[in-house]
Amino acid sequence: MKYVHIKTFGCQMNERDSEIMAQLLANQGFQSCEAPEEADLALVNTCSIRDKAEQKVYSLLGQLRDLQAHCGRPRFIAVAGCVAQQEGERIMDRMPAVSLVMGTQQFYRLPELLARLEGGERRVAALDLSANFVIPAFQKAQKPALAQTAAVQRFVNIMQGCNNFCSYCVVPYTRGREISRPLADILEEVQTLVAQGVQEITLLGQNVNSYGKTNAVADQALRFPDLVRAVAATPGLKRLRFTTSHPKDLDERLMRCFAEVPVLCPHFHLPVQSGSNAVLARMNRGYTAESYLDKVATLRHFRPDITLATDFIVGFPGETEADFTETLRLLETVRFAASFSFKYSDRPQARAASFPDKIAEEVKAERLARLQAVQNAITLDTNRRLTGQTLDVLVESANSVKGQGRTPGNRVVHFQVAPGQELPLPGALVQVRIEQAGPHSLKGTLQKRR
Ligand code: 5AD
Ligand code: SF4
Repeated sequence: MKYVHIKTFGCQMNERDSEIMAQLLANQGFQSCEAPEEADLALVNTCSIRDKAEQKVYSLLGQLRDLQAHCGRPRFIAVAGCVAQQEGERIMDRMPAVSLVMGTQQFYRLPELLARLEGGERRVAALDLSANFVIPAFQKAQKPALAQTAAVQRFVNIMQGCNNFCSYCVVPYTRGREISRPLADILEEVQTLVAQGVQEITLLGQNVNSYGKTNAVADQALRFPDLVRAVAATPGLKRLRFTTSHPKDLDERLMRCFAEVPVLCPHFHLPVQSGSNAVLARMNRGYTAESYLDKVATLRHFRPDITLATDFIVGFPGETEADFTETLRLLETVRFAASFSFKYSDRPQARAASFPDKIAEEVKAERLARLQAVQNAITLDTNRRLTGQTLDVLVESANSVKGQGRTPGNRVVHFQVAPGQELPLPGALVQVRIEQAGPHSLKGTLQKRR
């Protein structure tokens, strides 16, 4: 028996890719292990979206190198994901203990690349990201990807890559051009997952609204709203979500799905990044604060109970105090249920790295703290408004006294199970009466089983 230790940084796309790699290795007789000192292979799936994410990767690689020097294990150290794509063989120059580097579209070749290491090669790198290679590779890579174990919730890749080139973003360089998966493959994967007991599917892509538009394969007159409806029709599927969307590509056809497709959860992650039109233009986002607000209003018209989440970047080059105030104003206008906010960080390949008027670290930190304070107050307030209501909760884990799950709006709910009450199993849809609201979750009591 051989053991692999996998550490995943970054987004859900990376989580999904790590699952695929684990599956490919399982087919070769590998078992996953928690302790890197027991592993034949330590695999680090990396993120380079911000400088901090990249630093974390190098610090982990340093620990693995020391472990290997000390006790001979992990026998091989491999790096996959966005840092691997961006840095390539430079990783092995900087950290000679690393013997395998795989780009974001090459990881499906893992068994073959590993065999080369086992055959005695000291350094193996596979980094091709060109379209000719990528399109068949992407299609093929998803194929062995069906669930290893049944779970309540799973991600299904529908497209990847990005053609938007937001000026701060490294993704178009690390993930390459947009590619969509054929409808039939997606439907087959969803049906298989649902047959295995999966209740909730999240359709995954860097920019799901672009599904079918570029580098599409044969059958693709079809657009994202059509895909949502086709997947939603899978018998037995209880909940459907998708992430991530770009505001400029969000149209009424997709918004209508929230009114017309019952299994589509009323939750939308729609990254706005800034409330200042000057900053949005320099970010190359292709929309204004006003057009974003219009779309939010239309979404709420179609689905009044929709919960909205977003991403913000503070301290983008040239961001003035007045620009930042507009971001705060947009947040207060929309009242997002949640947001992820980040200090702008230079990415070597992205255009904004060469923009003038960089903002000082302490100014970024101070703006981030102010933004997060406003968001926390809004989140707490929107959560408090739910107390006294009875909400649908999809159970993720439970024992005889308590459990945890999520509402359709994606809020985490902790609930008490009363003595004698039937134990809700993971995957059950239950009703919980909300009694307490915190900044990150809700608490309540289990009501009747459905
Ligand atoms: N600096 C800071 N935040 C960034 N993001 C993407 N690139 C950068 C960067 N260079 C943020 C955006 C995006 C989220 C995934 O990460 O808000 O939506
Ligand atoms: Fe990056 Fe913009 Fe593409 Fe999102 S849409 S992955 S922020 S370039």
